[in-house]
Amino acid sequence: MKTAYYKNKKIWITGASSGIGRAMAIELSRLGAYLILSSRSKEKLEETQSLLQYPDHSEIISLDIADTQAIDQITDQVLASLQIDMLINNAGISQRSLTMDTDMKVYQQLMKVNFFGVIHMSKIVLRQMIDRKSGHVVTITSVNGKLGSYMKSGYAASKHALHGFFDSLRAEIDGSGVDITLVTPGYVRTPISVNALTKDGSPQGTMDENTNKGIPVDRFAKKLLKQIAKRKAEIAITGKIEALGLLLKRIWPSMLRKLTAGRKEA
Ligand SMILES: NC(=O)c1ccc[n+]([C@@H]2O[C@H](COP(=O)([O-])OP(=O)(O)OC[C@H]3O[C@@H](n4cnc5c(N)ncnc54)[C@H](OP(=O)(O)O)[C@@H]3O)[C@@H](O)[C@H]2O)c1
Repeated sequence: MKTAYYKNKKIWITGASSGIGRAMAIELSRLGAYLILSSRSKEKLEETQSLLQYPDHSEIISLDIADTQAIDQITDQVLASLQIDMLINNAGISQRSLTMDTDMKVYQQLMKVNFFGVIHMSKIVLRQMIDRKSGHVVTITSVNGKLGSYMKSGYAASKHALHGFFDSLRAEIDGSGVDITLVTPGYVRTPISVNALTKDGSPQGTMDENTNKGIPVDRFAKKLLKQIAKRKAEIAITGKIEALGLLLKRIWPSMLRKLTAGRKEA
């Protein structure tokens, strides 16, 4: 691993209270990064902090990224005292509900957290990076940022939107010294399906079989950090089935449609 890439970098991770964000924080602390840990739950962030190799080399900033005013206020406060080298847009929320049953407020929440919150924070932090001519913005999207699947219409839409946004932005800031990386994970074993919104906005509360069989989160985080250090534009870390889905989407989309039609586990 190119450990030097992370050493003493100031890295802001959203969604650091659980799953992928927590696992990345643990590994990044081991690699010597200074961490700003964000999410809504202060208690769970404290739990993450207690698991770090160097907890003193980190701080907790509670932030609901669906709250526009809070983003403005908190980024102002953080950027006044710190130069952020890397922003990891990891916070996100999934969905498990059929489109025709789903309340519009669920779609709005998915877009607020997964899209508007992400682009809002990125625009603010990027300003500082562009002025300094250096920085790295990493955004965790999903295989569902490349293809849609059953009961995830709003989630897939929000993750597709991130690809459109960051691909456009990357072209605009070419030569600025700032890297943009998009990450498309397949199934990773985290509580994402437990926290996923159902048709009325309440969490599903149970673990999906596919997620439970997904890549162990600590292994995923280590693999991902190796790839990020190479400053790649896009990184896909998936199991075989998701990799096949991504391939078919590109070269044989009609077959993908046939294989996934009506499949709940898609
Ligand atoms: N696990 C997978 O199979 C998988 C696959 C593809 C992509 N992903 C993506 O990976 C990212 C991390 O997900 P995960 O699997 O680690 O799920 P997770 O364990 O449920 O973690 C989600 C994180 O997002 C935070 N979050 C949710 N709503 C938020 C809000 N309004 N404001 C701030 N933070 C918020 C949560 O913290 P609080 O509750 O404390 O706010 C939590 O730390 C997501 O973007 C997800 O879409 C996951």
